[in-house]
Amino acid sequence: MASHNLLTKMRITCIWLLCIAIALASWRFLLLGVEVSMPFVAYHLEARPVWFYAHVGLAPVALVLMPFQFWQGLRQRHPQRHRWIGRAYGVAILLSGTGGLLMAAGSNSGPLAAWGFGLLAVFWLGFTGMGIWSAIQGRIADHRRWMIRSAALTFAAVTLRLYLPVLFATMGEQAGYVLVSWICWVPNALAAEWFLLRKGNRPEGEPA
Ligand code: HEM
Repeated sequence: MASHNLLTKMRITCIWLLCIAIALASWRFLLLGVEVSMPFVAYHLEARPVWFYAHVGLAPVALVLMPFQFWQGLRQRHPQRHRWIGRAYGVAILLSGTGGLLMAAGSNSGPLAAWGFGLLAVFWLGFTGMGIWSAIQGRIADHRRWMIRSAALTFAAVTLRLYLPVLFATMGEQAGYVLVSWICWVPNALAAEWFLLRKGNRPEGEPA
Protein backbone atom coordinates (compact mmCIF):
# COMPACT_ATOMS: atom_id res chain seq x y z
CA MET A 1 0.00 0.00 0.00
CA ALA A 2 2.83 2.40 0.95
CA SER A 3 4.74 1.62 -2.27
CA HIS A 4 1.52 2.06 -4.29
CA ASN A 5 1.05 5.53 -2.76
CA LEU A 6 4.68 6.41 -3.43
CA LEU A 7 4.30 5.32 -7.08
CA THR A 8 1.16 7.44 -7.46
CA LYS A 9 2.93 10.46 -5.95
CA MET A 10 5.91 9.96 -8.29
CA ARG A 11 3.58 9.74 -11.31
CA ILE A 12 1.75 12.93 -10.29
CA THR A 13 5.05 14.78 -9.73
CA CYS A 14 6.24 13.65 -13.18
CA ILE A 15 3.05 14.98 -14.80
CA TRP A 16 3.43 18.35 -13.04
CA LEU A 17 7.10 18.67 -14.04
CA LEU A 18 6.46 17.69 -17.66
CA CYS A 19 3.53 20.12 -18.02
CA ILE A 20 5.54 23.01 -16.56
CA ALA A 21 8.69 22.19 -18.56
CA ILE A 22 6.85 21.94 -21.91
CA ALA A 23 4.86 25.13 -21.21
CA LEU A 24 8.05 27.07 -20.38
CA ALA A 25 9.80 25.68 -23.46
CA SER A 26 6.79 26.66 -25.59
CA TRP A 27 7.01 30.27 -24.44
CA ARG A 28 10.58 30.47 -25.80
CA PHE A 29 9.24 32.57 -28.68
CA LEU A 30 8.66 35.42 -26.19
CA LEU A 31 12.43 35.68 -25.67
CA LEU A 32 13.79 34.60 -29.04
CA GLY A 33 11.02 35.40 -31.52
CA VAL A 34 9.10 32.91 -33.67
CA GLU A 35 11.48 32.87 -36.66
CA VAL A 36 14.42 31.83 -34.48
CA SER A 37 12.74 29.61 -31.89
CA MET A 38 10.20 27.73 -34.06
CA PRO A 39 11.23 28.28 -37.71
CA PHE A 40 9.35 25.15 -38.91
CA VAL A 41 5.95 26.65 -37.95
CA ALA A 42 6.80 30.32 -38.64
CA TYR A 43 4.88 30.13 -41.95
CA HIS A 44 1.63 30.36 -39.93
CA LEU A 45 2.62 33.90 -38.91
CA GLU A 46 1.85 35.30 -42.34
CA ALA A 47 -1.45 33.52 -42.92
CA ARG A 48 -2.97 33.69 -39.41
CA PRO A 49 -0.82 35.74 -37.00
CA VAL A 50 -3.52 36.31 -34.36
CA TRP A 51 -4.55 32.66 -34.19
CA PHE A 52 -0.94 31.53 -34.27
CA TYR A 53 -0.08 33.69 -31.25
CA ALA A 54 -3.33 32.67 -29.55
CA HIS A 55 -2.23 29.05 -29.94
CA VAL A 56 1.42 29.19 -28.95
CA GLY A 57 0.75 31.75 -26.21
CA LEU A 58 -2.39 30.30 -24.59
CA ALA A 59 -2.13 26.51 -25.09
CA PRO A 60 0.79 26.47 -22.60
CA VAL A 61 -1.49 28.33 -20.13
CA ALA A 62 -3.97 25.43 -20.35
CA LEU A 63 -1.10 22.97 -19.90
CA VAL A 64 0.17 24.70 -16.74
CA LEU A 65 -3.32 25.06 -15.22
CA MET A 66 -4.48 21.51 -15.95
CA PRO A 67 -2.70 19.68 -13.06
CA PHE A 68 -4.06 22.21 -10.51
CA GLN A 69 -7.61 21.14 -11.38
CA PHE A 70 -6.91 17.54 -10.36
CA TRP A 71 -5.41 18.57 -7.01
CA GLN A 72 -8.03 17.24 -4.59
CA GLY A 73 -6.85 19.39 -1.67
CA LEU A 74 -7.18 22.60 -3.66
CA ARG A 75 -10.66 21.68 -4.91
CA GLN A 76 -11.88 20.84 -1.42
CA ARG A 77 -10.26 23.72 0.46
CA HIS A 78 -10.68 26.44 -2.17
CA PRO A 79 -13.60 25.56 -4.48
CA GLN A 80 -13.75 29.16 -5.66
CA ARG A 81 -10.15 28.96 -6.88
CA HIS A 82 -10.98 25.71 -8.69
CA ARG A 83 -13.77 27.59 -10.50
CA TRP A 84 -11.56 30.53 -11.48
CA ILE A 85 -8.73 28.32 -12.68
CA GLY A 86 -11.35 26.30 -14.60
CA ARG A 87 -12.62 29.43 -16.33
CA ALA A 88 -9.08 30.42 -17.32
CA TYR A 89 -8.43 26.83 -18.55
CA GLY A 90 -11.63 26.98 -20.63
CA VAL A 91 -10.86 30.38 -22.20
CA ALA A 92 -7.24 29.32 -22.94
CA ILE A 93 -8.53 26.20 -24.72
CA LEU A 94 -11.30 28.04 -26.60
CA LEU A 95 -8.78 30.47 -28.12
CA SER A 96 -5.75 28.20 -28.49
CA GLY A 97 -7.87 25.25 -29.68
CA THR A 98 -9.48 27.42 -32.38
CA GLY A 99 -5.97 28.56 -33.32
CA GLY A 100 -4.79 24.92 -33.39
CA LEU A 101 -7.72 23.98 -35.65
CA LEU A 102 -6.97 26.80 -38.11
CA MET A 103 -3.26 25.98 -38.06
CA ALA A 104 -4.08 22.31 -38.71
CA ALA A 105 -6.30 23.31 -41.66
CA GLY A 106 -3.44 25.41 -43.06
CA SER A 107 -0.65 22.97 -42.20
CA ASN A 108 1.93 22.36 -44.95
CA SER A 109 2.64 18.85 -43.64
CA GLY A 110 -0.02 17.14 -45.79
CA PRO A 111 -3.62 16.02 -45.30
CA LEU A 112 -2.92 13.17 -42.86
CA ALA A 113 -1.15 15.48 -40.38
CA ALA A 114 -3.84 18.12 -40.93
CA TRP A 115 -6.56 15.58 -40.05
CA GLY A 116 -4.60 14.29 -37.05
CA PHE A 117 -4.14 17.74 -35.51
CA GLY A 118 -7.55 18.93 -36.77
CA LEU A 119 -9.46 16.13 -35.04
CA LEU A 120 -7.40 16.65 -31.90
CA ALA A 121 -8.48 20.31 -31.89
CA VAL A 122 -12.16 19.42 -32.44
CA PHE A 123 -12.17 16.86 -29.59
CA TRP A 124 -10.16 19.19 -27.33
CA LEU A 125 -12.69 21.99 -27.81
CA GLY A 126 -15.63 19.57 -27.59
CA PHE A 127 -14.57 17.67 -24.45
CA THR A 128 -13.62 20.87 -22.63
CA GLY A 129 -16.90 22.51 -23.66
CA MET A 130 -18.87 19.49 -22.42
CA GLY A 131 -16.91 19.58 -19.15
CA ILE A 132 -17.71 23.23 -18.53
CA TRP A 133 -21.34 22.82 -19.60
CA SER A 134 -21.89 19.92 -17.19
CA ALA A 135 -20.26 21.93 -14.35
CA ILE A 136 -22.62 24.85 -15.03
CA GLN A 137 -25.54 22.44 -14.88
CA GLY A 138 -24.25 20.91 -11.62
CA ARG A 139 -23.71 17.44 -13.14
CA ILE A 140 -20.42 16.90 -11.32
CA ALA A 141 -19.86 13.21 -12.22
CA ASP A 142 -20.20 14.14 -15.92
CA HIS A 143 -18.00 17.20 -15.38
CA ARG A 144 -15.26 14.97 -13.94
CA ARG A 145 -15.50 12.52 -16.85
CA TRP A 146 -15.29 15.21 -19.56
CA MET A 147 -12.45 17.03 -17.82
CA ILE A 148 -10.41 13.82 -17.54
CA ARG A 149 -10.88 13.45 -21.32
CA SER A 150 -9.96 17.10 -21.88
CA ALA A 151 -6.82 16.77 -19.72
CA ALA A 152 -5.72 13.65 -21.63
CA LEU A 153 -5.79 15.75 -24.82
CA THR A 154 -4.09 18.75 -23.22
CA PHE A 155 -1.33 16.31 -22.28
CA ALA A 156 -0.85 15.60 -26.02
CA ALA A 157 1.48 18.63 -25.98
CA VAL A 158 3.77 16.60 -23.71
CA THR A 159 3.47 13.22 -25.44
CA LEU A 160 4.10 14.87 -28.83
CA ARG A 161 7.38 16.30 -27.63
CA LEU A 162 8.42 13.03 -26.01
CA TYR A 163 7.73 10.94 -29.14
CA LEU A 164 8.96 13.38 -31.79
CA PRO A 165 12.74 12.94 -31.32
CA VAL A 166 12.36 9.14 -31.36
CA LEU A 167 10.19 9.21 -34.51
CA PHE A 168 12.46 11.68 -36.29
CA ALA A 169 15.47 9.48 -35.51
CA THR A 170 13.81 6.21 -36.57
CA MET A 171 11.57 7.09 -39.55
CA GLY A 172 12.63 10.54 -40.74
CA GLU A 173 11.04 13.96 -40.26
CA GLN A 174 8.20 13.78 -42.78
CA ALA A 175 6.74 10.40 -41.84
CA GLY A 176 7.52 11.01 -38.16
CA TYR A 177 5.57 14.25 -38.15
CA VAL A 178 2.51 12.67 -39.77
CA LEU A 179 2.55 9.76 -37.31
CA VAL A 180 2.99 12.03 -34.28
CA SER A 181 -0.07 14.07 -35.26
CA TRP A 182 -2.10 10.95 -34.38
CA ILE A 183 -0.14 9.09 -31.74
CA CYS A 184 0.35 12.21 -29.61
CA TRP A 185 -3.36 12.04 -28.67
CA VAL A 186 -5.17 8.83 -29.68
CA PRO A 187 -3.42 6.66 -27.01
CA ASN A 188 -3.99 9.44 -24.43
CA ALA A 189 -7.71 9.48 -25.27
CA LEU A 190 -7.88 5.67 -25.03
CA ALA A 191 -6.00 5.74 -21.71
CA ALA A 192 -8.57 8.23 -20.38
CA GLU A 193 -11.44 5.91 -21.43
CA TRP A 194 -9.70 2.93 -19.83
CA PHE A 195 -9.17 4.92 -16.62
CA LEU A 196 -12.85 5.94 -16.58
CA LEU A 197 -14.02 2.39 -17.19
CA ARG A 198 -11.77 1.10 -14.43
CA LYS A 199 -12.51 3.79 -11.86
CA GLY A 200 -16.05 4.55 -13.02
CA ASN A 201 -17.68 7.35 -11.11
CA ARG A 202 -15.96 6.58 -7.84
CA PRO A 203 -14.74 9.80 -6.26
CA GLU A 204 -10.98 9.95 -5.64
CA GLY A 205 -9.74 8.35 -2.46
CA GLU A 206 -12.68 5.94 -2.20
CA PRO A 207 -11.62 2.28 -2.15
CA ALA A 208 -12.31 0.06 -5.19
C1 HEM B 1 -4.55 19.72 -27.89
C2 HEM B 1 -4.81 20.40 -28.98
C3 HEM B 1 -3.72 20.99 -29.85
C4 HEM B 1 -3.76 21.08 -31.22
C5 HEM B 1 -4.88 20.63 -32.11
C6 HEM B 1 -2.54 21.69 -31.65
C7 HEM B 1 -2.21 21.97 -32.96
C8 HEM B 1 -1.02 22.51 -33.39
C9 HEM B 1 -0.63 22.70 -34.74
C10 HEM B 1 -1.48 22.32 -35.96
C11 HEM B 1 0.60 23.26 -34.75
C12 HEM B 1 1.41 23.66 -35.98
C13 HEM B 1 2.08 22.45 -36.57
C14 HEM B 1 2.52 22.70 -38.00
O1 HEM B 1 2.10 23.62 -38.65
O2 HEM B 1 3.29 21.87 -38.50
C15 HEM B 1 0.99 23.46 -33.37
C16 HEM B 1 2.18 24.01 -32.95
C17 HEM B 1 2.46 24.32 -31.64
N1 HEM B 1 1.70 24.00 -30.53
FE1 HEM B 1 -0.03 23.03 -30.54
N2 HEM B 1 -1.77 21.96 -30.54
C18 HEM B 1 -2.47 21.55 -29.42
C19 HEM B 1 -2.07 21.65 -28.11
C20 HEM B 1 -1.00 22.38 -27.68
C21 HEM B 1 -0.67 22.59 -26.30
C22 HEM B 1 -1.48 22.10 -25.07
C23 HEM B 1 0.46 23.33 -26.28
C24 HEM B 1 1.16 23.76 -25.02
C25 HEM B 1 2.41 23.62 -24.85
C26 HEM B 1 0.84 23.60 -27.67
C27 HEM B 1 1.92 24.34 -28.10
C28 HEM B 1 2.33 24.49 -29.40
C29 HEM B 1 3.54 25.16 -29.80
C30 HEM B 1 4.53 25.86 -28.87
C31 HEM B 1 3.62 25.04 -31.19
C32 HEM B 1 4.77 25.56 -32.08
C33 HEM B 1 5.68 24.41 -32.48
C34 HEM B 1 6.41 23.79 -31.34
O3 HEM B 1 7.06 24.46 -30.55
O4 HEM B 1 6.37 22.54 -31.25
N3 HEM B 1 -0.06 22.99 -28.48
N4 HEM B 1 -0.01 22.99 -32.56
